[in-house]
Amino acid sequence: MKDPKGLFYQILRSRRSVREYQDMPIAKDILERILETGRLAASAANCQPWDFIVMDQNHPKREELNQVFYKDGFLKAPVVIAACAESEKAWVRSADGANYAWVDVTIAVTEMILAATAEGIGTCWVASFDLEKARRILNIPKNIELVTLLTLGYPLEPLDIQEKNRKPMSEILHTGEW
Ligand SMILES: Cc1cc2nc3c(=O)[nH]c(=O)nc-3n(C[C@H](O)[C@H](O)[C@H](O)COP(=O)(O)O)c2cc1C
Repeated sequence: MKDPKGLFYQILRSRRSVREYQDMPIAKDILERILETGRLAASAANCQPWDFIVMDQNHPKREELNQVFYKDGFLKAPVVIAACAESEKAWVRSADGANYAWVDVTIAVTEMILAATAEGIGTCWVASFDLEKARRILNIPKNIELVTLLTLGYPLEPLDIQEKNRKPMSEILHTGEW
């Protein structure tokens, strides 16, 4: 592989939230690679307090799931991954009782997002949706939290490197102390 470091940064920079998808399915082996990336992610004390529910366009409940989205573009996403957290299985920091379930799930989802980007697949982390309806459709047990519905699909517009609207480094970086 020529310049793997350069390629990695290119993937990071080309990731953006994709809300419009082509009508093209994701091949099984590609989806498996993306999910495997999530499975291998780091988690606090290696607790792995996550579960993933995958739903493609052929699933009988997909039309029902589409009702939970507030943006039409997501309806066309060939795959939705519901990423779930089980706080009872997560590491808890004794100093302040912080439960790391959502941190761990977020790391796994982020790595899946980057794997998808490397595959030329666009994603959107969707946090705003009809939560209660989604939980019911996906049959999620009471003790499990639904962190995100990650939509995946080939983007309508290519994943090229675009300017990002972000705070400047000077605003967020502290040296040595707050
Ligand atoms: C935790 C989280 C929740 C988000 N929820 C939504 C959402 O519900 N709907 C949506 O359209 N985008 C959502 N996004 C996408 C953000 O709006 C997007 O990441 C941000 O505007 C930066 O743009 P970029 O991802 O294209 O770089 C979410 C992103 C994150 C990280």
